[in-house]
Amino acid sequence: MMISNLPERIFLCGFMGAGKSVIGQKLADRLELPFLDLDDKIEEKSEKSIPEIFETMGEAKFRIVERKALLEVIREFEGVVALGGGTIQNQHLLDHIKLNGLLIFIETPVSVILDRISEDKNRPLLLDEQGNPKNYEQLRKDLTTLYEERLPLYEQAVLTVVNDGSKSPEQLVETLLKKIKNHVEYY
Ligand code: S3P
Repeated sequence: MMISNLPERIFLCGFMGAGKSVIGQKLADRLELPFLDLDDKIEEKSEKSIPEIFETMGEAKFRIVERKALLEVIREFEGVVALGGGTIQNQHLLDHIKLNGLLIFIETPVSVILDRISEDKNRPLLLDEQGNPKNYEQLRKDLTTLYEERLPLYEQAVLTVVNDGSKSPEQLVETLLKKIKNHVEYY
């Protein structure tokens, strides 16, 4: 689908397990644009998996690597970008992202996120300090706290689509295409 006057980049933000990568790839296909997953870019650049980066460098260093990768993407890439759940670290970075593309929030309730990712070993934030999966109740509490911390940043996205599991990725992409078209035509 051709939409004229699209911004150079479309960024998808949202919590772990919101569906940013799946929806981002499908959205890029429909718009005939390149797709980039920031987590993949970080893994390529550092030649380590995300869990390995967390393990060897810790979260604080991961955030520095992540921020650098994002700034590089903004300089060098045009198309659809799936951000990581924690890429938007602060208001300053959020403002920078919004100046360089259209930011879309994939909103997903924590209960749905828990169902989707609670067993996922590739997401270091779901593990305890010994690297073992947290028990369900602890995970629910921790993810809820983190989600609430991040929500005020995610909510500053220009467009939002709810992915609560009731619609297929294809349906969500059609909804998004309409919202994007409407946005670029009228704003
Ligand atoms: C993180 C989300 C992950 C990945 C890393 C940290 C987060 O990306 O960047 O594990 O802080 O929420 P996804 O949102 O693609 O799972």
